[in-house]
Amino acid sequence: MTVRSLHLLGSPVLRQRAAPVARVDDAVRRLVDDLFETMRAAKGVGLAANQVGVAQRVAVVDVGEEHPPPLVLINPVIVERSPEIEIAEEGCLSIPEIFGDVERAQRVVVEALDRDGRPCRAEVGGYKARAVQHEIDHLDGVLFLDHLSAVKRSLLVAKWKKARKGKKGFLKEVTPEPAGEL
Ligand code: NI
Repeated sequence: MTVRSLHLLGSPVLRQRAAPVARVDDAVRRLVDDLFETMRAAKGVGLAANQVGVAQRVAVVDVGEEHPPPLVLINPVIVERSPEIEIAEEGCLSIPEIFGDVERAQRVVVEALDRDGRPCRAEVGGYKARAVQHEIDHLDGVLFLDHLSAVKRSLLVAKWKKARKGKKGFLKEVTPEPAGEL
């Protein structure tokens, strides 16, 4: 498994609609494993392939031990959304240190292929449902910023640009912290 570089806001692949996976082969399985590895190294709870520069419909979600199992989402489709919505703060590994309140369905049912290419279906709620919706958005080239009001979004983008001033490119190396560090 490899920790891959993260693509940050401004990288065109984040705005690309990812292509469906035609066949779940070893290359796709490797991508899934690398997404988990990269997500964990970056201390995220979800990661979509676009974020490592691959425009394919593959994402992973792992919101922690209280909400098992980790999800592998290949060609995912949300087939049901609860009418109940929840507003909570969201961030994104591709837009570090920028956060905003996003409205999401409280529960969703998602259908996808798993790591072995088998169809699977999961009903998820709360934080996990939020993560699933956020990652599937990525596969459509949508970022959490797009769910905010125009005013809020431009404030956050200005903050982002200020923080990125002088930095070149849109790639970030992920360096896992040494074991034992808090
Ligand atoms: Ni994200």
